[in-house]
Amino acid sequence: MTLANGHRHLAIPGPTNMPDEVLNALHHASVEIYGGSSEVASRECLKNLKKVFRTKSKVYIYAANGHGAWEAALTNTLSKADKVLVLSSGLFPRSWGENAEGLGIETEVLPERGGRAVDLEAVRTRLAADKGHEFKAILMAQADTATGVVNDVRGVRAALDSTGHPAMLMVDAIASLGCMEFDMDGWGVDVTVAGAQKGLMTPPGLSFTAASAKAKKAHKTAGLVTNYWNWTSRDGKEHYMWYGGTPPVQMVFALQKALRLLLAEGLENTIHRHAVLAGATRAAVDAWTSRGKLAFAISEPSERSNSVTSVLTPGDTGHRIIDYCENNLGVTVGRGIGPLDGRAIRIAHMGHVNAYNQLGTLGAIETALSALEIEHGSGGVQAAIEYIADRVK
Ligand SMILES: Cc1ncc(COP(=O)(O)O)c(C=O)c1O
Repeated sequence: MTLANGHRHLAIPGPTNMPDEVLNALHHASVEIYGGSSEVASRECLKNLKKVFRTKSKVYIYAANGHGAWEAALTNTLSKADKVLVLSSGLFPRSWGENAEGLGIETEVLPERGGRAVDLEAVRTRLAADKGHEFKAILMAQADTATGVVNDVRGVRAALDSTGHPAMLMVDAIASLGCMEFDMDGWGVDVTVAGAQKGLMTPPGLSFTAASAKAKKAHKTAGLVTNYWNWTSRDGKEHYMWYGGTPPVQMVFALQKALRLLLAEGLENTIHRHAVLAGATRAAVDAWTSRGKLAFAISEPSERSNSVTSVLTPGDTGHRIIDYCENNLGVTVGRGIGPLDGRAIRIAHMGHVNAYNQLGTLGAIETALSALEIEHGSGGVQAAIEYIADRVK
């Protein structure tokens, strides 16, 4: 007996649910790629991406996943044996650091504090000790999708400024852009990396880098520049080369639609929607974790991301919850990844998601907890309902 048949919901932290308008935009015949409607769509996307990144700087679109944009950020600005400081706060910033090492960049990882955000005091201390300014860049993620932590980008900028350190600030906003406040220019970010498949509600396969004037200056002497990721060759007049080859036209049409939807909602409203849905989710998890062995992966409440909540699950309960929700209730909950593989569930509140979706996801998880007799505090869904009702009058 299953109750899964009906409209299924995806509650994993990327790729995320897509609006029908975005899906429909994908259903498009291929078109001329040296001009015409594909170039018009690219121009609109580039203009609107700047609004979403909140930057006047150039944004580059890659036909690649986030790993591609990581590599683009590094190869466009750095040389072999340059040194970078990686602010680890989970799987993804660490992986970006490994990506840098693979390119011959020397990395130093600022150790993470289990279950906490990047320690700003430790960043300040390490930068102050780097008297010779060996670090050419800092790599960090605003949100880590594995742990569900959010890091203080402004705080890291302040650490650079207060120590007079000239390193570039590179931020992975893949799991935060379109979900949480992000202000590339206002916060003094030099390179932003983002992806299409999370807050931007577009299929996986497009990613972005935005390059500040300082990053463009570093680009002029960067030794790792390759033909494909190269910002300069993508700066030319020819639409074809904006993508380093054939533009992924259907994806661009989908992105065009998604950005229109995002801007029509209004970035502030989108960010507020994510904040309330995240708060409701945390209210539910607070109730569940009041008994038994479930626990937030991020111990400090103010360091929990508004795009995903990771919940530690004892034994094999995480897999059982996920399987139960998937097979019986029609909702796909995220599994733990990296060191949290088999030890956590990840509840997304990211992208094209509303209160009805989120309450459904929380209801499904609470149903699974009861059906599987996993010890937990009761009243999670009720707490989420009250959280929303208090805020939406
Ligand atoms: C914060 C963050 N950075 C980087 C990545 C890697 O992106 P991709 O899987 O598209 O290569 C992800 C993917 O989930 C992510 O969440």
